[in-house]
Amino acid sequence: MNSSPALQLSDITVHYGYARALESVSLAVAHGEVVALLGDNGAGKSTLLKVMSGVHRPTGGMLTVNGAAQDFRSPRDAASAGIQMVYQDLALVDSFDIASNLTLGREKLRKGPLGWLGFLDRASMRRESQSELDALGVRTAPVTRPVEMLSGGQRQVVAIARAAARLPASGILLLDEPTAALGHEQAELVESLIRSLAAKGTSIILVTHNIPLAFAVSDRTVVLNRGRKAADIATANVDRDKVVSWITGASVQEGLETSGAHQE
Ligand SMILES: Nc1ncnc2c1ncn2[C@@H]1O[C@H](COP(=O)(O)OP(=O)(O)OP(=O)(O)O)[C@@H](O)[C@H]1O
Ligand SMILES: [Mg+2]
Repeated sequence: MNSSPALQLSDITVHYGYARALESVSLAVAHGEVVALLGDNGAGKSTLLKVMSGVHRPTGGMLTVNGAAQDFRSPRDAASAGIQMVYQDLALVDSFDIASNLTLGREKLRKGPLGWLGFLDRASMRRESQSELDALGVRTAPVTRPVEMLSGGQRQVVAIARAAARLPASGILLLDEPTAALGHEQAELVESLIRSLAAKGTSIILVTHNIPLAFAVSDRTVVLNRGRKAADIATANVDRDKVVSWITGASVQEGLETSGAHQE
């Protein structure tokens, strides 16, 4: 593993026409680090994740993965650099079962006497899906159940498991509001998933409005306010009142370094 940050953003700016979603945001994420990305509605959190996941090309700024500059044109580019994102609005195929969703894009063909016959090897896809879920410690509905028959929380867990299963050993997982729709038990499951992935060296950026969750799992807290970074600090050094004042814009972290940020 090299010593560069897993992911580094420098002066990322995103303008949607006249709307300024992000203004010169810089951020470094270490290997195995869990960063909570907080901010009010419209602060730019999802936009920042979409820059990291190749959905949006920034108007300006630079992104590096393990020290290498990247210019993502698509989520596929980001995926090949080891970045997976779970979207706020989930992207599962409802009519497919859990196993098919988990193996989507990685389908296996069955081998017959004449070589590859072109039939999906469903049995082995199911086995593989089940063992991926087991490895992540995820217990959910049977993998043969169509996703449209799952609860919102169960879908969320499947979506996270799918992203996690596609990550390389020291990849980067971007989670946009992973627990918003979850009950107590499933939220705890996601929490422990985040912990075990981080322990394996995965870097995680977690967008959430749930401050107790952010405090429980993150090493570092980054706050966005109206597209600008308002705080970037070890989670151990913050308390709820401070975080809320950064989120609402009542204050900005004292001594915050926003490298290259230019004041208007
Ligand atoms: N496709 C788009 N076109 C134009 N403006 C957009 C687009 N997507 C987001 N915006 C604007 O960019 C800003 C940041 O939006 P973003 O979705 O990143 O916020 P967020 O922090 O994720 O908010 P929430 O907590 O509500 O999910 C908002 O002002 C939003 O209206
Ligand atoms: Mg959002």
